[in-house]
Amino acid sequence: MATLATMEKATQYELRLAERMSRLGTETAFEVLNRARALERQGKEIIHLEIGEPDFDTPKNIVDAGVEALRKGWTHYGPSAGLPELRDAIAEEVSRTRGVKVSSDEVVVVPGGKPIIFFSILALADVEDEIIYPNPGFPIYESMIRYVGARAIPIRLREERDFGLDVDELASLINDRTRLIIINSPENPTGGVFSQQDINDIAEAIGDRNIMALSDEIYSRLIFEGEHHSIMSVPGFQDRTILLDGFSKTYAMTGWRMGYGVMRPDLAAHMTRLMTNSNSCTASFTQVAGIEALRGDQSSVDHMRAEFQKRRDAFVAGLNRIKGFSCHLPKGAFYTFPNITQTGWTSKKLADALLEEAGVAGLSGTSFGEYGEGYLRFSVANSLENLNKALGRIEQWTKRNL
Ligand SMILES: Cc1ncc(COP(=O)(O)O)c(C=O)c1O
Repeated sequence: MATLATMEKATQYELRLAERMSRLGTETAFEVLNRARALERQGKEIIHLEIGEPDFDTPKNIVDAGVEALRKGWTHYGPSAGLPELRDAIAEEVSRTRGVKVSSDEVVVVPGGKPIIFFSILALADVEDEIIYPNPGFPIYESMIRYVGARAIPIRLREERDFGLDVDELASLINDRTRLIIINSPENPTGGVFSQQDINDIAEAIGDRNIMALSDEIYSRLIFEGEHHSIMSVPGFQDRTILLDGFSKTYAMTGWRMGYGVMRPDLAAHMTRLMTNSNSCTASFTQVAGIEALRGDQSSVDHMRAEFQKRRDAFVAGLNRIKGFSCHLPKGAFYTFPNITQTGWTSKKLADALLEEAGVAGLSGTSFGEYGEGYLRFSVANSLENLNKALGRIEQWTKRNL
């Protein structure tokens, strides 16, 4: 039996990690949140604009469905690909909203949107294969690509193109080793939304090559201007698209852990095997609540979107009044991505200073890749009152320091 003395000694052994762990990245939002919490413990008051989750509670009809499911005994393992009724509901939803015919054997339910990113990359890319991903973009893409030993090829999103990409540049990055192209609209962190023309141009750049598109559409219901367009709807692309969507952002269900992928059935079978190997299944009562989310009253989604839009308008207008800041109006998601190059500060330094000296937690644009230099990301998933307070603090800080 291990005594306390022998256990202590065990910690003296060098930790020998697999080499791949040195290539695993992270999501800085969680680190900044920890630093902000440490400052709060020292008595400082921080306004949290760093984390990417709705500040609303999960709608009551969904919570009630989850509680009832627990009471009714939905507490056991379920099928790895998801409960048949939820897969049906998702197939219906995606068929209706993307104008394609999707059946339930093309749907895999997983614990959040993130596993679809990980599983797609694991399933499709060998070492040295190339994967093109948006930069600035959700940091998990680059992290996972590098983790599996594939090559991460950034495609730059450009402010002057409304945070769209240059399709000639995309075409120039595609070669025989390209296995996957990741696109994300509405986009985290820029709030950019691809138009139908943008999607058509991307499809044209891919042409008839045997390359898959991972289309991260987790913010598809959070669009303020224009409509959502998916590459899955482009003729000839249904077989080559993995559509990622989920419940975290649309229904304020980040902590329930549920998302899904829609893809050709042969690939869905492999993703299901990855689920069996890693998670067994998504929590059963969560999935029952997911059926209510999709089939029940949608007014809470509209309410949240209207609220985010109000805050976006006020916060962007306020940012544009601050010396050194200029901010594009994001068309979707709940982030603002101001250009701060005129402050003369680098993104990371400015984000740190605003956290420590102004009590406003935001993220450096470089948390989203090297092309995020010159920008900060502030989430508007906070009350108007707090957003206005944050603007006041940032403005005061710039008056003292610029
Ligand atoms: C672009 C993007 N994709 C996927 C996710 C992951 O969502 P989930 O919490 O459902 O795993 C996020 C969450 O921040 C995101 O911003």
